[in-house]
Amino acid sequence: MGLEFHDDAIVLSGETGTRLKSHIVGSYYSTWWNITSGGDGLGFSLPTAIVELNAGTGLNFISDTKEVILGSSGHAIELKASNPKTTKLRIALVENHPECFSRLKNVLRKRWPSIKWSERPLTEPSMDVHLIDASLPTAVDIIQSMSLGNSLFFFDPLLYTPWSEIDRVARKRLERYYQTGTEFIVFLFTSDWFRGRGELKPLPTSNDGKWSPDQQKAIEQCDELFGNQNWRKKLLTSDSIGKRMNNLVDLYKLRLHTWFRYVVALPFEPKKDQMYHLFMCSNYEDGASITKKFYVDFTKNSKYTPNNIQGYAKFIKHHPAKKMPGNSRSIEWKILWSIIQYHEEGLCDIECRGLFRIEKNQEARTQALKWLSSEGYLREIKHLTDEWKSSRPDNFYELNWEKIGTNLGIEPPPRLIPLSKPADPFRPIILIVFKDGSQVRMSQGSSLGGLTDEDGMLTNVERVEADISCEVCGTNRRVIAQDIEEVSSDEQEMGPEVFYSAKSDAVCKKCGKDMEIDIELITYAYNTDFHNYNGSNCKLV
Ligand SMILES: C[S@@+](CC[C@H](N)C(=O)[O-])C[C@H]1O[C@@H](n2cnc3c(N)ncnc32)[C@H](O)[C@@H]1O
Repeated sequence: MGLEFHDDAIVLSGETGTRLKSHIVGSYYSTWWNITSGGDGLGFSLPTAIVELNAGTGLNFISDTKEVILGSSGHAIELKASNPKTTKLRIALVENHPECFSRLKNVLRKRWPSIKWSERPLTEPSMDVHLIDASLPTAVDIIQSMSLGNSLFFFDPLLYTPWSEIDRVARKRLERYYQTGTEFIVFLFTSDWFRGRGELKPLPTSNDGKWSPDQQKAIEQCDELFGNQNWRKKLLTSDSIGKRMNNLVDLYKLRLHTWFRYVVALPFEPKKDQMYHLFMCSNYEDGASITKKFYVDFTKNSKYTPNNIQGYAKFIKHHPAKKMPGNSRSIEWKILWSIIQYHEEGLCDIECRGLFRIEKNQEARTQALKWLSSEGYLREIKHLTDEWKSSRPDNFYELNWEKIGTNLGIEPPPRLIPLSKPADPFRPIILIVFKDGSQVRMSQGSSLGGLTDEDGMLTNVERVEADISCEVCGTNRRVIAQDIEEVSSDEQEMGPEVFYSAKSDAVCKKCGKDMEIDIELITYAYNTDFHNYNGSNCKLV
């Protein structure tokens, strides 16, 4: 596949979801840097690095919409260029394609003339941006010699990253069992393997070895993706594409667990029948939970809000011996609560950083985990990786949600709903929650079928959630409109057109300003429009 350019921007069709991906990764970079640099509290003084392994040119040209946008690497440079507090942030951009590399330099010169950058050999280690035009093995050695501090690596290939390359970077960075300080984002176009794209043909639906040359090639590429053939029996089946995509995501997560305790698969549906995932990998529960929170906020998924007070009351009823005087909590409860709230997939072991923060004494932690396991709140499972055999802890656990549900009345976090076409993240989005617990997101100006009851009305809607921004101080907050009031109804050719108002009052958490938001929904002919809204002292974000 030849590379095409528009000026210095890589030409990509909107179909690939490039716009959405660049936007979300770009926004995430600044959230991630804010936290890992120590934030305001530490004066952003901790060294951090963003490393892109497929940097491109910094700019993308979206041929569908004919617009030039910042690619993810462009966002990284922009963060460095626009925020004076990023002095301890370094950007390393690896691009092995010669034309991309030279255009990346053009973009830097033209767009960010004040940014100081260097090419390898990296003689001046204090540069803002380091450009590396090497293949991955060489690039990894160079990067490793740069002493980067907390680092975020983004693998953003056009098709897929061979496992050997992920493994190579991880092996250099992670020298101890699930070492913290390194995070990966890995992009994978999940649906391509089953629907095909360009030269990649769909994987066959049988594992009988009777494959066409194109299918054989796709299989070999998938072998490269996983670095083994173990995936074949799960993906070369006649199951539905949906099921095989879920299997692919689970298998790939498991592969990434080789190096990372926490792997969050963030789904995106840029178009009907297209699905890609960003796999966010961290060894620090806060890293994984911040990533997830970022996605949940960005896509207006429901927040996970398990009830601490009720859960604790039930816990004490079952285990009165664990009651402590006053407001103190037993180590067992503190650990269990922390895992429920922050540990992606409910995974944990004695070396989790968050558990260490709760109880520094290793023996006390070990005993608490053993107690939680003996009571059925945790289930001991096999380690997710064969690495670290000589140094990993003896016991590895996951939450037993059945027991937690029965004993404490706490449910697991809701499944993530992909950001899909009807909800355009570049316009304000609302979340509609139905009485049966299902949800849908709509962006302003969009229209969706299937939300009404059999009379074409919105009686099934439980509430509308939205994020608003205070017009006085710019602080954001979530509001919930519980009453969906029918305001008026006009008889039209295809039945009634009904106008609804979903209103919510709120007070700005920072400046105390009173705010009101009124969201207008219209149903007509079984379609629902999110037409407009009125904000008093606030706007939807
Ligand atoms: C799609 S680019 C993404 C770049 C960057 N992360 C961004 O968001 O702008 C990923 C990589 O694909 C490579 N590539 C290979 N063949 C390509 C093609 N036909 N079109 C676009 N990129 C291609 C480029 O060298 C680049 O490193």
